[in-house]
Amino acid sequence: MSEPLIARRKPFLETVKQGKTYFWCRCGRSKKQPFCDGSHRGTDFTPLAYVAEADGEVLFCGCKHTGTAPLCDGTHNRLSERYEEAADDGPEVRMVNFEPCQAGALKAKLDGDCYVIRVPEAAQQIHGNLKLYPVIGSPDNARFLSQFAMRIDPGESPVMRFAGSDTALYVISGKGRLNVGGQAFSIGPESGACIKSGEALSITNPGPDPIALNLSVCPPCAAPEWLDRMPAAFDQSYPERVARVDEARREKMADRFFQVLIDHKSHGTEVTQFIGEIPRSRAAHHRHLYEETLTVLSGEGFMWTDETKAPVRPGDTIFLPRKQHHSLECTSEGGMRLVGVFYPSGSPAINY
Ligand code: FES
Ligand code: FES
Repeated sequence: MSEPLIARRKPFLETVKQGKTYFWCRCGRSKKQPFCDGSHRGTDFTPLAYVAEADGEVLFCGCKHTGTAPLCDGTHNRLSERYEEAADDGPEVRMVNFEPCQAGALKAKLDGDCYVIRVPEAAQQIHGNLKLYPVIGSPDNARFLSQFAMRIDPGESPVMRFAGSDTALYVISGKGRLNVGGQAFSIGPESGACIKSGEALSITNPGPDPIALNLSVCPPCAAPEWLDRMPAAFDQSYPERVARVDEARREKMADRFFQVLIDHKSHGTEVTQFIGEIPRSRAAHHRHLYEETLTVLSGEGFMWTDETKAPVRPGDTIFLPRKQHHSLECTSEGGMRLVGVFYPSGSPAINY
């Protein structure tokens, strides 16, 4: 079969109706993208019929190279050597200052409900040897995720549970043991782990250094329950809970990389947790259909929305509402590393 034409290097966002059939243009020649207008005649292509499973919005592939036709799977990002970059600074963009918010944390509010938050250790609430701060939650108009910055000093942490939610944990520094139900898992820097709905967790820190972590919770919870002892609940369908950053498992996306640590396929979770690496560059503005949190692990730069931008540095967390038009710029020679979590679970390569 001959190669399809690339209609465009991005998907098309369309609203679909449950049960209705849509004929996706597979050849790339249609003038009514992403749908077939008959222009495939004389080629060896035919349109692909797609029946919508539910009312909603979907991203139909525009590059015609997706592996999950007719829907975009992010392959469009791999069709070029370089990720699509911003052409110029565009209209005037205002630099936003960080303002004090809850308990001495600092927040830079960008367009929409997007923001960057910086949390000093002193702002965290103390529970035994554990300190916690809610960096993302419903008061900030997060609808699907909440996230906590957490620090655990040496010793056995209290037992906590986010009832009815999946939790994705990421270890930024330090090492110890994660306890879930009666199971124990070793955790260290650059490891992700998941705790399933109905399960509780505690962390043993053998010392001497503290363990710094992020906990991303979906559906969102304002605060954990504190329990007197560890309940036995443990979902045996997913016995492996820890995923480590591994260069061999990175996926290339033009001149960027990502590695999915936890998602619906590996752990049956509502969220995807991934590590991303971006070179010194500023991506063209784009959107995602998911709600996302990003925490900067190394490198500096700026978070851009349409009319505002704010500096970002290691330790900062960014909240990105669904469909927020944005771009993350890396200004560090050595690039930027991030850990991201988003809902619903899918591929971090899918943007529009
Ligand atoms: Fe492309 Fe029909 S016009 S498949
Ligand atoms: Fe084709 Fe995304 S537009 S894979």
